[in-house]
Amino acid sequence: MKRIPFHNRERELKEVMRILGAEPSLITFVYGPINSGKTTMISHLIEQLPEDYAPFYVNLRGRFITDYEDFLNVLFEIDEGGEVDNVTGYAKSILKDLGTVSGIPIPKNLFEQIFEKKDKSKDVFKYIEQFLIEISNKRVPVLIIDELQVIGDLKINGLLMYKLFNFFIRLTKELHLCHIFVVSSDSLFIENVYSEAMLDGRCRYLVVDDFDYETTATLLERDGFTDEEKAVAWEYCGGKPVCLMEMIHADNRELIAKDMLKTRVTHLKDLLDYLDYTRPRIMIGDDEYLVEKGDIADILNKFVDTEYIDDEGLNRPAKHFLIKDNILFLDPHTGIIKPQSRLNLLAIREVLKDV
Ligand SMILES: Nc1ncnc2c1ncn2[C@@H]1O[C@H](COP(=O)(O)OP(=O)(O)O)[C@@H](O)[C@H]1O
Ligand SMILES: [Mg+2]
Repeated sequence: MKRIPFHNRERELKEVMRILGAEPSLITFVYGPINSGKTTMISHLIEQLPEDYAPFYVNLRGRFITDYEDFLNVLFEIDEGGEVDNVTGYAKSILKDLGTVSGIPIPKNLFEQIFEKKDKSKDVFKYIEQFLIEISNKRVPVLIIDELQVIGDLKINGLLMYKLFNFFIRLTKELHLCHIFVVSSDSLFIENVYSEAMLDGRCRYLVVDDFDYETTATLLERDGFTDEEKAVAWEYCGGKPVCLMEMIHADNRELIAKDMLKTRVTHLKDLLDYLDYTRPRIMIGDDEYLVEKGDIADILNKFVDTEYIDDEGLNRPAKHFLIKDNILFLDPHTGIIKPQSRLNLLAIREVLKDV
């Protein structure tokens, strides 16, 4: 299979480098619709980072995390090497050849010690802080956590998420020790931690959205698309990287585009049909609501002649349902709502003809 090289994220990477060039002081949320290229951009960034940075990347995607133990197993990369009793010495030694690590390195015996403790989170944070202090003497630590919403509901004496964000605030705003990037497509999760963990003035947003027209056009021209094929790609995929990749790899490009749309249309029709029979329950905070088909249709109808709508005045349970089901995307920074992809927009328009 042909491998597509990394394509232009100049604006976003420039912004990341600007952030990395200053003293760490805010938590950065990297957000955008699903499959917009967030993880790809971060992986590219890590490969390209100058030597004076020390990136620690943790991806929770697809991880089945039901308790704190599972979380620690993902957060840390356990070092099976010999016994270590001193974090500072360990951090110093690891700096010599810190390759690409997935997670924060920790010697096995220290990891096991933490496990024996009753209040694990205190010891976990203490270890990470000491480790980062030592690392920061030589290099600038950058901690990146991808798909953090996976542990959104995990509780250990209260929500883990709030403890974690308090710790992130300590590492950035208070100690200026480490850059923190939290990557997620789940804007309801970001909205929620923003208000609950009181992040006002303590975080910034960096959007990684689907490619704009120009970036899409250069990607397709590189792969020899004709003007006609380019127009079809933009009409069906917009700038959604995964969708464009499907087209690049296809023999019959128009056919594959129509096929992808057909899948979306079927999914959406099926969903609306399901809503004829049942009213799904949805939790907002601690309260449960029932989702009504009429409210769903009212929201979707707004997209018949526009691509974006404002967050205000919409039926909240229906809005949350559509976002959770990955049909709509809410920009947590601007409050603008749009379909998760161009295909979703087209599917909405197609299906609503018959409702
Ligand atoms: N800048 C890029 N250049 C080339 N391909 C990309 C780029 N960004 C995304 N892709 C393609 O799109 C797919 C989905 O991107 P991904 O980074 O997983 O999205 P996200 O993390 O936002 O959900 C990737 O597997 C890759 O094939
Ligand atoms: Mg991702």
